[in-house]
Amino acid sequence: MAQSDDSGMQTGDEWVFGYGSLIFRVDFPYVERHPAWIDHWQRRFWQGSHDHRGTPDAPGRVLTLAPAPGVRCGGMVYRVRGSVLEALDYREKNGYERFPIPIVLKDGRVLRGITYLAPPENPAFLGPAPDETIARQMARSSGPSGNNADYVIDLARALRAMGERDDHVFALAGLLSDGAASHT
Ligand code: SIN
Repeated sequence: MAQSDDSGMQTGDEWVFGYGSLIFRVDFPYVERHPAWIDHWQRRFWQGSHDHRGTPDAPGRVLTLAPAPGVRCGGMVYRVRGSVLEALDYREKNGYERFPIPIVLKDGRVLRGITYLAPPENPAFLGPAPDETIARQMARSSGPSGNNADYVIDLARALRAMGERDDHVFALAGLLSDGAASHT
């Protein structure tokens, strides 16, 4: 039988910080969730997606985290059971690794948890490009989880609803929403 401590954490439970699709596509069960942030990281659309928002022949672009001293990246933290963590490993399998990280809650509590980070060494990593180039690639990409453009637009909407500002995400969402990316 699972053991639990004073905070209700059971053996195998993990805190998972979501900064991208884990904010707006919550198709997994969780015990609790809270708005939270991580320090010294920023979202970047630098990871290729062959399995969710693109295909092996025409990869889309999804988020990873890039080091950014002094920058705070807001998102959502979930407490999940061990079996759910395994399912998330599968969902994030295309280049992402569990990365241990301190996660700060709005009340100041710091949780020791993980996030899914796609490091530059992974084979699907694409790296930086000008916003217009990224937007053009996204405008023509889609995969089993939907259009690449919707990934960005749905995330921008979710961040705004949480009161989070992210200029990189909002700039791409703007380019994709007004259709500019598909005409250039
Ligand atoms: C995340 O959402 O935290 C990881 C990247 C993604 O699945 O979009």
